[in-house]
Amino acid sequence: MSKINSIRAIQALDSRGVPTVATKISLENGISSSAMVPSGASTGSKEALELRDGGTEYSGKSVENAVSNVNTVIAQALKGFDINNQSDIDHKMIEIDATSDKSNLGANAILSVSLASAHLAANYQEMNLHDYFNKSFNEITGLNIDQSLPMPMLNILNGGEHADNNVDIQEFMIIPKGSSSIKQALQWSSEIYWKLKQILKDKGLSTSVGDEGGFAPNLKSNEEAIQFILTAIEACNLKPGEDISLALDCAASEFYKDGKYNLRGENRILDNIEFTNYLSELIQKYPIISIEDGMDEMDYSGWNNLTKQIGKDCQLVGDDLFVTNKKILKEGISKGLANSILIKFNQIGTLTETYQTIKVADENNYKSIISHRSGETEDTTLSDLAVGLGSGQIKTGAPCRSDRVAKYNRLLWIENSCPDIKIG
Ligand code: PGA
Ligand code: ZN
Repeated sequence: MSKINSIRAIQALDSRGVPTVATKISLENGISSSAMVPSGASTGSKEALELRDGGTEYSGKSVENAVSNVNTVIAQALKGFDINNQSDIDHKMIEIDATSDKSNLGANAILSVSLASAHLAANYQEMNLHDYFNKSFNEITGLNIDQSLPMPMLNILNGGEHADNNVDIQEFMIIPKGSSSIKQALQWSSEIYWKLKQILKDKGLSTSVGDEGGFAPNLKSNEEAIQFILTAIEACNLKPGEDISLALDCAASEFYKDGKYNLRGENRILDNIEFTNYLSELIQKYPIISIEDGMDEMDYSGWNNLTKQIGKDCQLVGDDLFVTNKKILKEGISKGLANSILIKFNQIGTLTETYQTIKVADENNYKSIISHRSGETEDTTLSDLAVGLGSGQIKTGAPCRSDRVAKYNRLLWIENSCPDIKIG
C-alpha cells in the first residue's frame, strides 16, 4: 500500500514568472502529494545544477527537460519504492543521475521528487509534515533533535541582485528576537514594515518592492538603509537590540570584482581587510547580530580574517560559501570560515543530503538557518523543515508577497496547533 505507483510533473511558474518544476506522487492506494521547487538569483557557483532548456521559450528558462526527466527516467526508476524510505528514494535518484552536481537529471527535477516524497510519506503515515521531518531527520542522521519554532529573519529592504536600486548589500533583515511567539514576531515585523514604508514615502523615496518583498529605494549608502530601519523600529515603540536585532546578507560575491569589494552605491572600492573593517564598524555601531556572505565565495583569506575578527561577536553565515554541501562545509570548517550555514535544499538537490549537511554543521557547533530562495512559490515545505529540525532560525523574506507570507502563515498554523512546540 505504501508503494509508489506514479510520479507526474508539470512546468509551473515561480514568483518571478519563471518556469519551475511541480511534481505529484501517487501511491497504489490512491493517495497523492505534491511539491514545487524554488530558484535563486544570486546563486553560488558550486550549487547543484538547475536544469533549464535554453533556446527561445521563456528566454531559455523553461524546464521541460527537467519535467520530462521526472515523468520518464525518475518515474520508472522509483515505481514500487516504499514511500516511507526517504533515504532510498533520494539515493536512487543520485545513483541514476550519476554526476556530482546533478547536471544529468537536474537538481530541480530531483528535488521536486524528494520533497513530494516527504509530503506523501507524512500523508500516508497521517503525520504533520514537521513531525515527519523530525522523525526522518533523527532516523537518517542518528541525532536526537527536538522540534522548535524558528525565529524569523525578515528581509524588509532589498538591494543587490534582488532589486533595481543602487544599494549594494542584498538584504537588510529584522530579527524580532524579543518576541516569545511567531504571532508576536510577525505582528512586530509587519508594524515595522508599514512604518518603514511611511518613512520612505515621506522622504519621497520609492516604496516598490524587490524579489523578496522588501522595499527597494535608491539610497546614499548601506548605512542609510540601516538608519531608516532603526527609525521604523523606534517609531513602533520597540527597542533596537532588545526587541529587534538586525541582520545583513551582503551576498558579497555579487560585488566582488578583480579581488576587491566594489560598493558602487557608495563609490568605494575596498580590499578584504578594508571590507572586514567596514563590517566590523557596522556591528559596533548598530545592533547587527548576523552577517551572511560577508565575503566572496572564493575569498578564503577574507573569510578567515572576517571570522577571526568578528566571529565571536556576530553570527557569520555561509550561503554561497557552503551551498548546503556537506563536503564544502567540512572544508570550510577546517579552514576556519564562518560559524553558521544557510540551508537551501535546492543548492544540493535532495532532502537526505540536506539532512547530512545539517548534521555536519550540528557536530561542529555551526548554526543552521533554513532559507527560501529569491524565486519562490506557494510551497511551504521549508517552514515545516525548520520546525521539524529545530533549526532555530528561518529566513523567508518580508511580511509581504504571498510567496513569502505563505511560509510565515504556515508557522502561525503550526504554533496554533502545537502548543508544546516553542520558539527558539
Ligand atoms: P538567492 O538569494 O535565492 O537569489 O540566491 C537568497 C540569498 O542569497 O540568501
Ligand atoms: Zn545569501
